[in-house]
Amino acid sequence: MYTLDELKYIVSQCKMCELYKGRTKTVFGEGNEHARIMFIGEGPGYYEDKMGRSFVGKAGQLLGKMLESIELKREDIYIGNIVKCRPPNNRNPLEEECAVCIEYLRWQVKLIDPDIIICLGAVAARNIISTDFRITKERGNWVKKGKFYIMATYHPAALLRDERKKRDAWEDLKNLRAKYEEIIDIEKRGLGID
Ligand code: URA
Repeated sequence: MYTLDELKYIVSQCKMCELYKGRTKTVFGEGNEHARIMFIGEGPGYYEDKMGRSFVGKAGQLLGKMLESIELKREDIYIGNIVKCRPPNNRNPLEEECAVCIEYLRWQVKLIDPDIIICLGAVAARNIISTDFRITKERGNWVKKGKFYIMATYHPAALLRDERKKRDAWEDLKNLRAKYEEIIDIEKRGLGID
């Protein structure tokens, strides 16, 4: 089994799909390597590609505020993406690009071993929850897959485009906070801590 650093290096050399041709930097993902909550976006945008860091543009700033609203910091969570290289003109990643890149994400999830996975937007949800996932209808619902509690919510970029979605996103965030506390409580009880 590779370490996260080794995996990051492997990703930085990847040429498994055509996206490598247009990248400035691969965006592996970042955050707390022991996080209980892992957020998964779609793929790097302009600033992420330049900096090699996930969610550093406008959508990333909003994500930071969303986290703050439920008393979490970026240092508490891990943020990754379905694809590690920026698609040209920020188009959605193609199915075949997602299919190869998601293998890296699987390794990442194994290594980080979160309890909760939050899919940001339809691309993440379709690759992680189900291929026909409808974000407007199915967001906010928990799906249990193996040991993971998985939920999808709107991508912060969608919230920037349409403010009306923020009310639903806030419900999803509260829902996340509640699940997080539930998991921490279960663990404390398991350890015999009141
Ligand atoms: N949008 C994403 O889906 N991921 C990022 O890292 C940045 C913007």
